[in-house]
Amino acid sequence: MNESVAAENLKTMPLDIEQIRRDFPILHQQVNGKPLVYLDNAATAQKPHQVIETVAAYYRLDNANVHRGVHTLSQRATDAYEGAREKVKTFLNAASEQEIVFVRGATEGINLVAQSFGRESLQAGDEILITEMEHHSNIVPWQMLCEQTGATLKYVSINDAGELNLEEFDRLLTDKTRIVALVHISNALGTINPVEAIIRKAHAVGARVLLDGAQAAPHIAVDVQALDCDFYVLSGHKLFAPTGIGVLYGKQSLLESMPPYQGGGDMIKMVSMKKTLYNDLPYKFEAGTPHISGAIGLGAAIDYLNNIGLDRIQQYEHELLEYGSRVLAGIDDLTIKGTAAKKTSILSFVLKGIHPHDIGTILDNEGIAIRAGHHCAMPIMERFGLPATARASLAFYNTREEIDRLAAAIIKCREIFN
Ligand code: ALA
Repeated sequence: MNESVAAENLKTMPLDIEQIRRDFPILHQQVNGKPLVYLDNAATAQKPHQVIETVAAYYRLDNANVHRGVHTLSQRATDAYEGAREKVKTFLNAASEQEIVFVRGATEGINLVAQSFGRESLQAGDEILITEMEHHSNIVPWQMLCEQTGATLKYVSINDAGELNLEEFDRLLTDKTRIVALVHISNALGTINPVEAIIRKAHAVGARVLLDGAQAAPHIAVDVQALDCDFYVLSGHKLFAPTGIGVLYGKQSLLESMPPYQGGGDMIKMVSMKKTLYNDLPYKFEAGTPHISGAIGLGAAIDYLNNIGLDRIQQYEHELLEYGSRVLAGIDDLTIKGTAAKKTSILSFVLKGIHPHDIGTILDNEGIAIRAGHHCAMPIMERFGLPATARASLAFYNTREEIDRLAAAIIKCREIFN
């Protein structure tokens, strides 16, 4: 067998979940006397020891500030930090490292675009188009921008399955639309949005498109050049990397034209008492000492995902979601919220007569971690007329046995309350 055939075969091999689970030390513990079942991956994902060790080794051996020192440790830290940027560039298939800005997370990436690109280019009469299924981080920055500029915010509604009403999108998209911002995959419903068509249509009216990829990047391969999106944001902590690190991808020509978001060290070429010359991309947007260890950890997480293969991860998670959907749908009085034809990794549900917070508490007693609440997406709850849902969110280290434990605990919950 030649090497490329062997590599192709490897890509289609089923995941060795037991081996993968051994990489995640946190999974091997008891919570409330029961083996932990971690199903809150959309809130934050767990970290493999490859990431934990990379971050620890950085602090043990290389810790120094980046881009500033001539000494060896600073060189090593800079190489590792910039090496992580190169890994992100390849992971997203960006055209250049200059298009990769390290930020705190998806939230900061969106705020940066709103306050730099948006504030510079929008005025009264312009429109921003978002959707009813956005996370608060993709609503509030646009509301703030509208207050600042006099622009108007419009929302594309969703149907009962949790899919965008695309005819309404077509109606709301006009030559007044300057920005279209939407979630690639919904954190509350799991819907995978048809972003390719949306981007094409938005560009046809001259609008720029930002995709919130916080929930997409851990589950599907993202190619920003193939998508042709203008901006893409993601959060490291949902991608098996540390908290406090994230990525803003922006097309180089757009980032070049945008003013800095924050001022400080590293984003300058020269400062005098009269004026400042800003640094080149991407440093123009990275004021202050960055989250060096976080970026390096993100690079390690990307290596880890690449070794497994996002295609295999997607396939496995799809089967797990189908299994989970079938099992949960078989429970009396349980309704799944979010049944889009194209969805991934999220099982949001309500149980008749039982508040989601009570479900969450009872499940915790069984060692099962889920999220109960509005999932930072209150407009979705409003759309479905609910105060909250219970949400199990999957990662590739979850198993059918864990879904069975979830189902048994939900049934126990019904018994307690009925
Ligand atoms: N956005 C995160 C979630 O969906 C916090 O839970």
